[in-house]
Amino acid sequence: MLYSDKVMEHFGNPRNVGVIEDADGVGEVGNPVCGDVMKITIKVNDDRIDDIRFQTLGCGAAIATSSIVTEMAKGMAIQDAVKISKNDVASELGGLPPAKMHCSILATDGLKLAVDDYLKKHGREPIAGEVKSADPTFDPHEDDEH
Ligand code: FES
Repeated sequence: MLYSDKVMEHFGNPRNVGVIEDADGVGEVGNPVCGDVMKITIKVNDDRIDDIRFQTLGCGAAIATSSIVTEMAKGMAIQDAVKISKNDVASELGGLPPAKMHCSILATDGLKLAVDDYLKKHGREPIAGEVKSADPTFDPHEDDEH
């Protein structure tokens, strides 16, 4: 399976690239197998994501999934943003090759960590749940479909 047109479009023209200097929440994750890393910064207003930026050093799929996640999450309530799954990301992009499904975990996990960082800074309980790529024993290929 090749990349969809939408993946190629987001890879070639990624949205919301950069860092918010006075961010309310920061999430940084890495894929221990391929070494790709990404950082998400968010501005939150009334528990809604007002602004979001990403920096990803990684493969084309990681960049495209990061880009689409920022588009999906902008304007969303934080409670909904942490529920964005890798399958939501893949379907929004018109599909991802099975061997690249794991790349979308970077973006969804980065967003989860950014939301929890925001909550922590305000003395509130985390809501993101499990963040796989923060676990050094995590194998990002274990649930790839072959
Ligand atoms: Fe590293 Fe895609 S190969 S995230």
